[in-house]
Amino acid sequence: MTRLARGRAVRSPVRSRRLRRPAAALGLLALLAAGCAKNAPMDTLDPEGPNARTIDNLINPVFIVAAVIFVLVEGMVLVFTLRYRHRDDAPEPVQVHGNTKLEVGWTLVPALILVAVAIPTIATIFKLAQKPKDAINVTVTARQFWWEYNYPDLGVVTANELHMPTGRKLELTLQGADVIHSFWVPKLTGKTDVVPGRQNHMNISADKPGIYLGQCTEFCGLSHANMRLKAIVHTPADFDAWVASQRQGPSTPAPGSPAAAGAELFTSKGCGGCHTVEGVSRGRVGPNLTHFASRTSFAGSMFEMNAENIAEWLRDPPGVKPGSKMPDLNLSADETTKLVAYLQSLR
Ligand code: CUA
Repeated sequence: MTRLARGRAVRSPVRSRRLRRPAAALGLLALLAAGCAKNAPMDTLDPEGPNARTIDNLINPVFIVAAVIFVLVEGMVLVFTLRYRHRDDAPEPVQVHGNTKLEVGWTLVPALILVAVAIPTIATIFKLAQKPKDAINVTVTARQFWWEYNYPDLGVVTANELHMPTGRKLELTLQGADVIHSFWVPKLTGKTDVVPGRQNHMNISADKPGIYLGQCTEFCGLSHANMRLKAIVHTPADFDAWVASQRQGPSTPAPGSPAAAGAELFTSKGCGGCHTVEGVSRGRVGPNLTHFASRTSFAGSMFEMNAENIAEWLRDPPGVKPGSKMPDLNLSADETTKLVAYLQSLR
C-alpha cells in the first residue's frame, strides 16, 4: 500500500508535465475553433459597409506580407537552430565579423517592405478621414456605461441604438463625458476613441438594412463589457418614418391606468432629475426616455426590451450592471409593475 502510494506520488508530477503539451495544444485548438464561428455578429473580417471594406482591403494584403515574412523568418530560425546546433564532436565553426553586403541587404529590404506597406496604409487613413458630403450629423456622447446619440439637424435624441439609412453616411462627432471610451461597430467601420475634453470624428454607413452589433472597446470601468450598442440600418423611407416617430412627444398614459400611476411615480421618485421625457422632465444624466419602449434594448444594449428585463433592472440597477449610475430606488413590487407599465407606454 505504502509503496503504491509512494509510487503514485512520485509519478504524478511527471505525468502532469507530460500532459502539459497536449493540454496546451488542445487549448490552442479550442482558440482556433472559436475563431471559426459562423454566426459572428462582430466579425471585423466580414465587412458590410464601405469603410469596413476599405479597411479589409488594406488588412488582407498586409496580412499576406506579414505571413510570408513570418514563415520565412521562423523557418530560417528552425533550420539554423537544427542544422548548426552544438554537437560535441563538431569542430568549432568559422568565426566571422561583419559582412557589408548582407547588412545593407537586411536593412534595405525590410525598409522597402515597410514603405510598400505604408503607402496604402496612409492612403487608407486619409480616405477614411474624409468628411462625407450630404452626411447626417450625429453627436455621440459616451458615458459610463451607455451611448447617447443626438441628431441636431433632425431634432432627435436617443440612446444605445444608432439609427441610420442605407445610401447615406453618418458623420459622427464623438465626445466623452467621463472617461475614455471607444466606439466600434466592427462590420461597418473601424473603432475611434471617445476622449473627454476633445471631439473626434468618424463616419459610418452600411450597404443594406439590418442590425449591426457594436461594443465599447476601451476599458472604461466595471461595466465596460456591458457597454454595448447597435447600429440599426433602415431603408431611407423607414428611416424617415423612424425620425418622424421620434420627433413626436411622448404618449400620455390613459387616466387611471397602471401606466398613469407609473408616470406619477416617475415624478415622485425623482426619475426626471436624471432622465428627459419630453414635456415631463429635463434630466441629462441618464438616457432620454421619451421613446424608451421604441428601442429593442436598454441599459447600454445590455438587456433586450421586455417587461421582465425592465422589472429586473429597476429592482437593483447596480446589482445587475456593476458601476451603473442608476441607483437602487428600493421600489416595492407594486411600484415596479407601475413604472414598467409607464416605461412600456413611452413608444
Ligand atoms: Cu465604455 Cu468601455
